[in-house]
Amino acid sequence: MSGSASVQSSSAALDIRPLGGRIGAEVEGLDLREPLDPERLRLLREALLEHLVLFLRDRPLSDDEHIAAAAQLGRPNVYPVTKARGLDQPLEFILDSEKSPPKTDLWHTDVAFLPEPPEIAMIQMLETPDAGGDTLWCNLHAAHDALSPALQAFAAGLSQDLHPGAYFQRTIEQQFGPGVYEKVAEEFSGTQHPLVRVHPETGRRALFLCGTYARRLVELSPEESDLLYGHLRSRLDDPNIQCRWRWRRHDVAIWDERSTNHRALSDHYPARRRIRRCTVGANRPLGVRAAADAGIAVAPLPSLEARDGTVAGGRLGA
Ligand SMILES: [Fe+2]
Repeated sequence: MSGSASVQSSSAALDIRPLGGRIGAEVEGLDLREPLDPERLRLLREALLEHLVLFLRDRPLSDDEHIAAAAQLGRPNVYPVTKARGLDQPLEFILDSEKSPPKTDLWHTDVAFLPEPPEIAMIQMLETPDAGGDTLWCNLHAAHDALSPALQAFAAGLSQDLHPGAYFQRTIEQQFGPGVYEKVAEEFSGTQHPLVRVHPETGRRALFLCGTYARRLVELSPEESDLLYGHLRSRLDDPNIQCRWRWRRHDVAIWDERSTNHRALSDHYPARRRIRRCTVGANRPLGVRAAADAGIAVAPLPSLEARDGTVAGGRLGA
């Protein structure tokens, strides 16, 4: 992240205020209810690539306005669970309440078990609890770059076995009863994605962790896979590569699903919290070799001799 406070152009500057050093920025002066002119849309995309998650305070949107705003960033997706319920709207409504406890208080990127998971998500907060219910995001580029060069090189050769999984099944059955999960699992019986994902627009490497959708690292034994996942997942808990948003009603968040994990805290339970979400774009994640084959200029690895000592990961001054 360059640390610049704004993305400027002569005709359409965006007022961008970073939340921290490595991820997240608040954007002011942007009306999502109207189509963005090409220059402002370009600046918004640029800001998203730089900050990975953008926040807009108090921007009430109707359902249709939400879809239209998100569609400027890519083609809207129908969530597989929505589809399995016989609906085709590209919106999901996520409700936490006494009878529907929070379900995503764990690091993940959305529906990573799909062969082509979504690229970008846009959510709007519809109902906020009086306290709690914040969301955290983590920068997966920074999580990758904080690994030693030797582990970065090793990780680049690994792939992940992904499946909707038992946790997802429980949450779907809690919300919609029996039958829905089975339809999703029947259509999406599993896929493989690289552990190190190359961002198609920037060439940057990301540690593409996928929460409970990841069953194992394919090239390793189950014990080795558990051990390495344990270490890699622990990296996400480094506050230096996170940001945290305290919601107010009608706030909007837009994030890059390819280079972040997020986690919705559950400390507001049993209070209500309700969100509307639209995801857009869908692409098969590319590992280092596939990205290079596709003509993407992949960020080089640091030399194996290089040692940091200043990056996130608890190694400051080590
Ligand atoms: Fe999510």
